[in-house]
Amino acid sequence: MLKVLFVFGTRPEAIKMAPLVKELLRYPEQFQTRVCVTAQHRAMLDQVLAFFEIKPDYDLNLMTPDQDLHGLTASVITAMKPVLKDFKPDFVLVQGDTTTTAAAALAAFYLGIKVCHVEAGLRTHNKLAPFPEEINRRMTSVIADYHFAPTESARENLLKENIPADRIIVAGNTVVDALLLALEMVETSRDPDIELVKGLSEGDQKIILVTGHRRENFGDGFENICRALKTIAQTEDVKIIYPVHLNPRVQQMVHERLDELQNIHLLKPLSYPAFVWLMKRSYLILTDSGGIQEEAPVLGKPVLVMRDATERMEAVESGNVIMVGTDAAKIVGTCHDLLHDEGLYARMSQKHNPYGEGKTSEIIVQYLKNVTGDA
Ligand code: UD1
Ligand code: UDP
Repeated sequence: MLKVLFVFGTRPEAIKMAPLVKELLRYPEQFQTRVCVTAQHRAMLDQVLAFFEIKPDYDLNLMTPDQDLHGLTASVITAMKPVLKDFKPDFVLVQGDTTTTAAAALAAFYLGIKVCHVEAGLRTHNKLAPFPEEINRRMTSVIADYHFAPTESARENLLKENIPADRIIVAGNTVVDALLLALEMVETSRDPDIELVKGLSEGDQKIILVTGHRRENFGDGFENICRALKTIAQTEDVKIIYPVHLNPRVQQMVHERLDELQNIHLLKPLSYPAFVWLMKRSYLILTDSGGIQEEAPVLGKPVLVMRDATERMEAVESGNVIMVGTDAAKIVGTCHDLLHDEGLYARMSQKHNPYGEGKTSEIIVQYLKNVTGDA
């Protein structure tokens, strides 16, 4: 029997790991499965754990107010050691490119434990964008033994870095599995956040859904984004709904500039099903998020990405995403075009599935069934 330890810490990792945890738990005769959360995020992680009904076996509870990269990285490495020594997994599964991902992979490597990387091979090829995620995922690729790449282009990125071809599995992205689960559950869920967004969305105004949290946008970037949102709210017949990330720097910046403005609704981070409901209901999405760039094409929602570089070119190529950076005039202008140019809107609203059909967890688990601990 293989012992498998999932390690994750932030909201997007939890969303993308949840379907995989559930899938692996279906095979108790083959896998002894444990979940360790670093709780790099606390409230935003707990929202996801509650929705997917996942109870961690180990909760390191590491989040501190206004944590920094140095302190968190050190504490993940240190706190992982007793967990790894206690459970002695054959495999540690990490996801994506956060501090938790890279530090947990390193902690496992130090003890000679094999690492599987879910969502491997994403690259902008610019080490400063996104910061520090591009380096986190490159470090994780160097450490990992098995690489579950979402797409062919992610596989090619890994091959160029001399990762052995037989250790790369193109599996799609578990985000589609999670999204499909949420879409199913949203219909019957009694989640209060769903009631909140349903109430807010009443009326004929087009809804622009906004999120933002990237470090490289702090300062001028966020300043410009807020300016753009204010202009859009004043000049277009829209309702802007913005669930604000709990990072205190983001909270402060956004609330200081956008509180109490007409047509702008600032909310707490929404539960995953409520956010999915709102994505479906919205007219367009403005974001710097990675995961939302993957979910929106499945829903056929146009996304304007407020970043200079993306590691997810598939949705740009399929026409669902336009890169607008953080230039206020460009954000306002592109929103205006999408609100008034029906042809453009129709082209950007085609549904696409570059990240798989929602079977990624099954593909990964089937693969793991055939590998052995000493492979
Ligand atoms: C992290 C990831 C980023 C991912 C994002 C998802 C790193 C380096 N970055 O960025 O890749 O896109 O999560 O949202 O790992 N906070 C709270 N409550 C919460 C969550 C966060 O107060 O529920 C606060 C933390 O205390 C911290 C700040 O928000 O001060 C930032 O959190 P952190 O995990 O350090 O980085 P993120 O910007 O969230
Ligand atoms: N999301 C959510 N509630 C919100 C905003 C986003 O559940 O209020 C979900 C969203 O659907 C996506 C994920 O969170 O699956 C994206 O997380 P985030 O943008 O924080 O991180 P990134 O994907 O950029 O790493």
